[in-house]
Amino acid sequence: MNSTAQLRWGNLYPELGQDPIPTEACISPKIFEQEIEKIFSKVWLKVGRVEEIANKGDYKVKRLDFAKTSVILIHAKDGQVRGFHNVCSHRGNKVIVETGDETFGHSKAAVVSCRFHGWVYDAKGDLVNVPEEEKFSACFEKKNNGLTPIRTEVWEGFIFINLDAEGGQSLTEFLGTMGQHLASYPFAEMEECFAYNTVLNCNWKVAHDAFAEAYHVATIHAGSFPNVFASGLQDVQLLGDHRTCAVCLTKNAHPKPAAKLSGEITGASLVHHYQRQQLPPSVNPHDRDDFSFELSVIFPNILIHVTEGVWFTHQFWPISHNQTRWEGRYYLPKAKTYSERWAQEFAQILQRNAWLEDTATMEDTQSALESQAKKVMHLQDEEILIRHGYHVLEQYLNGRKEHIA
Ligand code: FES
Ligand SMILES: [Fe+2]
Repeated sequence: MNSTAQLRWGNLYPELGQDPIPTEACISPKIFEQEIEKIFSKVWLKVGRVEEIANKGDYKVKRLDFAKTSVILIHAKDGQVRGFHNVCSHRGNKVIVETGDETFGHSKAAVVSCRFHGWVYDAKGDLVNVPEEEKFSACFEKKNNGLTPIRTEVWEGFIFINLDAEGGQSLTEFLGTMGQHLASYPFAEMEECFAYNTVLNCNWKVAHDAFAEAYHVATIHAGSFPNVFASGLQDVQLLGDHRTCAVCLTKNAHPKPAAKLSGEITGASLVHHYQRQQLPPSVNPHDRDDFSFELSVIFPNILIHVTEGVWFTHQFWPISHNQTRWEGRYYLPKAKTYSERWAQEFAQILQRNAWLEDTATMEDTQSALESQAKKVMHLQDEEILIRHGYHVLEQYLNGRKEHIA
């Protein structure tokens, strides 16, 4: 026992305990299978933004390796966004040919057609045309052979799906207080998106955990953000399965000249001090002047960060127990001047460098954990978001979580 321990968050949330966390959940193929079955196949998962399919007839196909499927999200003529498995009712071909992890397209008539034999489905998933229909048997009926729907709902412009066709929990219920916490932030006003993604040879939680604390900033980000961010979190709130906190600036940061100039021209930099204009009331509730950005985790696999003039996400898609697709996205308003554009580019490159620094640790952590030389990891008080993540995970895996209404 560390007799000098100072536990701000541990004292606030004693139910999480203080014990070291077993590393098994990051290296076990068996636990990975359980996570897919009990979590990723049951809960709401963010798969897109409405701006990506802004017009009627726009569609997006998102591959979900863990579920061995891909989902078609289509913007119907009635304005609804609906989701379907990308599987044709005829002989099971993919209706839309995928050109990568994400595929985008547009159909003026808001229909999708399978390229194999030309079956056509409308944006409600109904099968509307079958070439040579008369040659199918009398018991074949178009109305019974639409696309397989996937529950799809939108929150603040984020498109979520739930692969559990039997589940009764709505997205609003799933998000709970977190849904209100970030509500009203003007996500859609930041139209410019810089996106990066790659497959990392690590468990999805190893990737998640590396982004869910500020303890590593002084070491890992000594190059990109020297002496900029405080290691301690502020305003930690555990909100059911989800969690949130503020990451703050050190008071004595001395940004390099170019970073200083970029920060002064636009709020696109996280190191910039700004006037409060866009943040929802529950974010930085006490108007701390050292506030940099809110770090919110929506269980299981997305981090949403918001601040004035910029928001960004990290998402972690499980592929296997030691493979994860990481997606980083950084959103900014359209620049109005060339100098703003320069400042945004600068901020983006700084952020990209930081993300390279972050992702550089993950594969090393995974391979070291797989040696099993260490059976547990030790979390300090400021790593409370990670501790909460394992707490919620355990509840799902042990069946103590009632996510099916
Ligand atoms: S498999 Fe799609 S039309 Fe034949
Ligand atoms: Fe980091």
